Amino acid sequence: MSENYFLGVHQQEIERLDRQHLAWQPETQALIQLAKLADCKNILDLGCGPGFTTFELANTCPKAHITALDKASLYQDYLGFQIQKRKTQNIALLHADILDLPKQEGLYEAVFCRWFLAFLIADLPAVLEAIYKKLQPGGVFVAMEYLTLDSFTCVPANESFDANTKAWNQFYLNNGGDAKIGTYLPSFLEKAGFTIESQTCVGGMAPVQHRWWNWWRDAFNDFASTFVEQGLLAQADFDALKNYWAEQEKIKNGFVYSAVITQIVARKAT
Ligand SMILES: C[S@@+](CC[C@H](N)C(=O)[O-])C[C@H]1O[C@@H](n2cnc3c(N)ncnc32)[C@H](O)[C@@H]1O
Repeated sequence: MSENYFLGVHQQEIERLDRQHLAWQPETQALIQLAKLADCKNILDLGCGPGFTTFELANTCPKAHITALDKASLYQDYLGFQIQKRKTQNIALLHADILDLPKQEGLYEAVFCRWFLAFLIADLPAVLEAIYKKLQPGGVFVAMEYLTLDSFTCVPANESFDANTKAWNQFYLNNGGDAKIGTYLPSFLEKAGFTIESQTCVGGMAPVQHRWWNWWRDAFNDFASTFVEQGLLAQADFDALKNYWAEQEKIKNGFVYSAVITQIVARKAT
């Protein structure tokens, strides 16, 4: 099993995922509530990474046993350490590739994932079929994924900012991912047998220092030099954006408009 994926598996990415979780924590909590996961007895967290969603589930669903699946051993080790440190009783690690899910034992009342399916485009029908089979009759699948990154722009307008947005889209596509997965995920879910119970979208206007503004600045700092190396972003746009964040802080009424994130609750037949 290849443990890596194109955003990378390393300490700096753990720290970015931690800040990313804080940036989208209120929306994640609202989705957990909307899907009524607090009533579930067992939940599978797919592509759990270092476990920020896993602990969110464990804390908000105290009656549930959470199984945390990820293929990256560094993230499983990090989560294992956090489980021990916090003396958490209701989380179990599952070091596995999602493609091996059919070989795993047990059925779940709920399956949750956030920023995961966008990395699995070629295998999406098989992955959704495997998730459907892993749910108990009447079980729920809850997903939080990009609807689109295209909406990411800024005020005042800045061509380099928009070039960075395009680079992100291309980075996903070049690596077998797709940051527009949310636009077709509902129809794939229906083909896999699910009934869509709820579809909502979150994201939007983020003034300077808003949690989403900080999230996108962090993403620029961690990834834009790779985009330049891979020919996805011009050096001139990179140079222009290096000072952009500090400059925008000085502009009265400046803001960014974020990616749109879709939140889907889908049910297996009883
Ligand atoms: C962007 S991270 C999201 C982590 C977490 N869901 C969150 O929202 O903080 C995507 C995670 O998916 C995992 N992943 C990617 N492809 C996978 C696969 N085929 N099987 C299992 N995990 C996978 C990666 O190792 C990574 O931890």
